[in-house]
Amino acid sequence: MTEWNKSGWRAKPRVQMPTYTDQNALEAVEAKLSKYPPLVFAGEARRLKDELAAAARGEAFLLQGGDCAESFDQFSADGIRDTFKVMLQMAMVLTYGAKVPVVKVGRMAGQFAKPRSADTETVDGVELPSFRGDIINELDFTSEARVPNPEKMLQAYMQSAATLNLLRAFSTGGFADMHRVHSWTLGFAEGQGTAKYQDIANRIQDSIDFMAAAGITGGTTHEFSTVDFYTSHESLLLEYEEALTRLDSTSGNWLAGSGHMVWIGDRTRQPDGAHVAFASGVLNPIGLKCGPTTTAEDLKELIAKLNPENEEGRLTLIARFGAGKVAEHLPRLIEAVKEVGANVLWVCDPMHGNTIKSSSGYKTRPFDMVLAEVREFFAVHKAQGTVPGGVHFEMTGQDVTECTGGVRAVSDEDLSSRYHTACDPRLNASQALELAFLVAEELTNLRTENLSQAAG
Ligand code: PEP
Ligand code: CO
Repeated sequence: MTEWNKSGWRAKPRVQMPTYTDQNALEAVEAKLSKYPPLVFAGEARRLKDELAAAARGEAFLLQGGDCAESFDQFSADGIRDTFKVMLQMAMVLTYGAKVPVVKVGRMAGQFAKPRSADTETVDGVELPSFRGDIINELDFTSEARVPNPEKMLQAYMQSAATLNLLRAFSTGGFADMHRVHSWTLGFAEGQGTAKYQDIANRIQDSIDFMAAAGITGGTTHEFSTVDFYTSHESLLLEYEEALTRLDSTSGNWLAGSGHMVWIGDRTRQPDGAHVAFASGVLNPIGLKCGPTTTAEDLKELIAKLNPENEEGRLTLIARFGAGKVAEHLPRLIEAVKEVGANVLWVCDPMHGNTIKSSSGYKTRPFDMVLAEVREFFAVHKAQGTVPGGVHFEMTGQDVTECTGGVRAVSDEDLSSRYHTACDPRLNASQALELAFLVAEELTNLRTENLSQAAG
């Protein structure tokens, strides 16, 4: 086998990537980015890999969520804080309700480039290149705005660095301290999930007070006052990824320095394509989206390329089939994994198979379908005796109306009131909490069954 190198993807067929017209400008940006500091470090990526390995064994659970696409316009400290708060609340629901450690990974600090179903978009007879995310071009429907501009990679890098800086401060600077479990609730959040969360927060507070009164000073330890929070994004724009790839001097391996975990999307997972070639050689944990068109043969080939050493925690398979379709597709892929004896973490993305156009013309996702896909995912794993190890979702801490349904009952007509996503429709805070309660319930049922089987 020829040695992997970070530019090797350039010789492979590429899809979903822009064609930059100004080569000099592109090379100047790549040269600059190559000298910038990496955003993450190899030791962090390795620690995340260990935690994902635990999730694959059923000893932890992965919560991976955030924006569909981060945006330059909507970048704000409050936005990051509120998404972080919702992730902490969801993690608390799972830790308290299902008694399972939660691995927290944001779709944040690098989630800018988007694959599109069509290369062009036509409005009133005018055809222009599609918008591909703020790291590539602009949303405005003018020909200038849609020209890919390499300079945007620099802004995406700066925004990612600032986002990660704030996330690191939130994780360790007191904000995530368990004593503050009540303070993570968002002002506007209401509904059943929020009420149930208040109840859990009261009980956690009560336990902390009890321990303090009993002289157990756990309240000041590291475990109580900090969390580990990781970043992830789709490694789609390979010029950006390559420029941030660094040699890890301790291991001699290559690190994608753009985020802790990177994934390959459903449209770019060609076994001989550029995206798989790039991801195969970096030491980070890798995600691979699996959709209705993923065949067992493809999956086996991809596993061999992406995890030849069969390392635990290296490969996360993110299933995204759509409600009503999980039982049709997931079993053949689980069989393929069993056949080759691969170590993988199975995660459910209940968002990308459930996107529809609403009667009011907006792209939306009915919340009932999101919940249904999660239930189907758990049911198939139960039948197969395999581990449902996490969920991957698009969510925001902002009070949006993008997915229909949920306790606050967003209707087709309501979508227009607060529809802010830069790409796909996201769950709002109340919907995200409800999702966490459903997952906690499924995990608790699973555990009770496993215990009773062990006892019987
Ligand atoms: C995404 O995660 O935003 C995405 C585009 O997903 P997929 O590749 O599964 O369609
Ligand atoms: Co999306």
